[in-house]
Amino acid sequence: MPHADEKPMMVGEHPQCDPVKTRIIHVGMGASGMLAAHKARKFLTNYELVCYEKNASVGGTWWENRYPGCACDIPAHTYTFPFEPNPEWSEFYASAPEIQDNFMRFYNKHNLEPFVVLNTEVVEAEWHDREGLWHVTLKNRTDGSKFVDKCNVIINGSGVLTKWKWPDIEGLHDFKGELAHSANWPQDLSWEGKRVGVIGTGSSSIQMVPKLAETASQLTVFMRNNTYIAPPFGSNISNKEADPDAADPAAAGKHKYTEKEKERFRDDPAYHLKYRTTIERQIANGGWDMFNRGTELNIFVKGAMQDSMRQRLAHRDDLKERIIPTWSPGCRRLTPGDGYLEALIRDNVNCEFDDIKRITPTGLETITGKHIEVDVLACATGFNVQYFPHYKMIGTGGQVMQDSPEPNVYASVAAPGFPNYFVINGPRGNWGQGCALPSHEVQMEYILQCCRKMQEDRIKCMEPKQNVTTQLNAYMDAWHKKQSIWAEDCKSWYKDNKRNGRVYIWPGSLLHHLKFLKRPRYEHYEITYMDPDNIFDFLGNGKTISQVKLGGEAPVPYIRNDEDEVWDIE
Ligand SMILES: Cc1cc2nc3c(=O)[nH]c(=O)nc-3n(C[C@H](O)[C@H](O)[C@H](O)COP(=O)(O)OP(=O)(O)OC[C@H]3O[C@@H](n4cnc5c(N)ncnc54)[C@H](O)[C@@H]3O)c2cc1C
Ligand SMILES: NC(=O)c1ccc[n+]([C@@H]2O[C@H](COP(=O)([O-])OP(=O)(O)OC[C@H]3O[C@@H](n4cnc5c(N)ncnc54)[C@H](OP(=O)(O)O)[C@@H]3O)[C@@H](O)[C@H]2O)c1
Repeated sequence: MPHADEKPMMVGEHPQCDPVKTRIIHVGMGASGMLAAHKARKFLTNYELVCYEKNASVGGTWWENRYPGCACDIPAHTYTFPFEPNPEWSEFYASAPEIQDNFMRFYNKHNLEPFVVLNTEVVEAEWHDREGLWHVTLKNRTDGSKFVDKCNVIINGSGVLTKWKWPDIEGLHDFKGELAHSANWPQDLSWEGKRVGVIGTGSSSIQMVPKLAETASQLTVFMRNNTYIAPPFGSNISNKEADPDAADPAAAGKHKYTEKEKERFRDDPAYHLKYRTTIERQIANGGWDMFNRGTELNIFVKGAMQDSMRQRLAHRDDLKERIIPTWSPGCRRLTPGDGYLEALIRDNVNCEFDDIKRITPTGLETITGKHIEVDVLACATGFNVQYFPHYKMIGTGGQVMQDSPEPNVYASVAAPGFPNYFVINGPRGNWGQGCALPSHEVQMEYILQCCRKMQEDRIKCMEPKQNVTTQLNAYMDAWHKKQSIWAEDCKSWYKDNKRNGRVYIWPGSLLHHLKFLKRPRYEHYEITYMDPDNIFDFLGNGKTISQVKLGGEAPVPYIRNDEDEVWDIE
């Protein structure tokens, strides 16, 4: 019983869990922005959402990356939102334009345009604690003007691989020929009959080299690091049941779906689902052990890939020596490089292993003094990976996220000191295996569950606890040290391109990641209520929303015949 001198609680007029209006800003309109717009409609009421996109179009990765050969590195039927199958894929590994078309189909089908503001870049976001709002500074890229928008929640869906990186080599911009970066490829660039140089051995290089080699007069690949070339994933999965004339499973990368195969996918969703799950199970489950050091699969895959590369490099012992890694496959992103090794041994292709000293107006000079003349210079040199947002984030007490010596992120989705800030596919997310989109979906649903809780329970803000975040990251470090191949002596963007750097990948399989994020663990968060002296304000007037809406007709869903039927009260 309250003491007589205690302040009486205010009892509101609203029903229980009546959602308080919230405004959300989502940064970017790639796959993540599309999920935000689509899923918010399902998870939230009484909200506003705006997705600011710096580019002139939506699509993100697949709008930006248009270099020759750009395609997904996992089978197309698994590179869709998991709930939105596409029976129309034309081939086993879809090309970048076809993937972009598929995202556009999703965008138009679900009418997501009303949420989007194009050509508008987020340049800064600052938390104002008293108001419980983010003040987000935006730049209109058409006229350069700046303005501020405010929101309760900011979701950073600006992509891990968006800020492409020129190589740090003297003289790069003095080059007088045609200079291109893989992620900003000029669509009118012609390399036919020309001398071409490609810098890099990452996935982008692996995909473009076979295309460039076909018609370049001379192609030099500058390879300062070695890499695995994977056989096509799913090359044992048959679709002959749909069409006896379908390509043999071994064709994988060359498998173009026949009309009959597509018809079966279209007309028989159960069959299509079986096909999709068979592929996904093989990638997400069957392959998982290869990322665990010393397991049977890890040892087998390493040996098999090295043997396959030796075979494909035929008589070129020099290349075998230089290209085949000693670390485990997967430490750098595995790319099924259809035709890559075959391209490297063509007569018009040369591999250059010496470091580049400088770029001259007509070519590249190596540290050993060679000068290689080129007409076109393609930099497949990757990205400034988004360990921190590429815009300034100012959190509680004026702390700047970018001033931290390393990312301080909880489970790839949130950050202590930055209330109501969430990120899709942040550091320690699903970077290293399989498809990005299932984790995008689960992360977005996680974030929207948090938003809904804040609306319904009258919470001003939430942020992960620092001690929980520190422990979780220490656990992740220990896990990688104990068993993951990513901790081996290899260099990749998963660890900031440092051989013995911290591994920024989830400590477990894709399924393990999805299970962790399927529901938020609110006990890991500091929660601040709108009225800290009346945290039960959300209980309101003693009625539920359904009772306010429907009076005596409100459903009583707990009365049922089947105990396992899921029920809830609005
Ligand atoms: C060449 C390439 C191939 C890939 N292949 C695969 C694959 O085969 N399988 C796979 O699973 N994943 C692949 N990925 C990863 C791919 O990025 C993800 O699958 C997915 O497309 C990411 O979607 P996203 O929305 O999170 O990010 P993005 O697609 O990067 O979209 C982010 C958007 O945010 C915008 N943006 C960035 N900063 C700002 C700002 N400050 N203000 C406003 N807008 C901003 C960008 O312009 C962009 O449109 C590939 C990546 C690359 C680069
Ligand atoms: N669907 C796909 O198949 C696909 C295609 C492209 C990209 N992606 C995604 O994007 C990620 C990035 O791929 P990416 O190939 O663009 O970049 P990346 O994997 O980071 O590779 C960049 C390459 O450029 C080299 N490089 C950088 N600076 C250099 C310099 N100054 N001199 C010489 N070499 C230099 C690097 O060498 P070092 O290794 O020695 O640093 C590396 O070989 C992939 O891991 C993948 O996740 C996927």
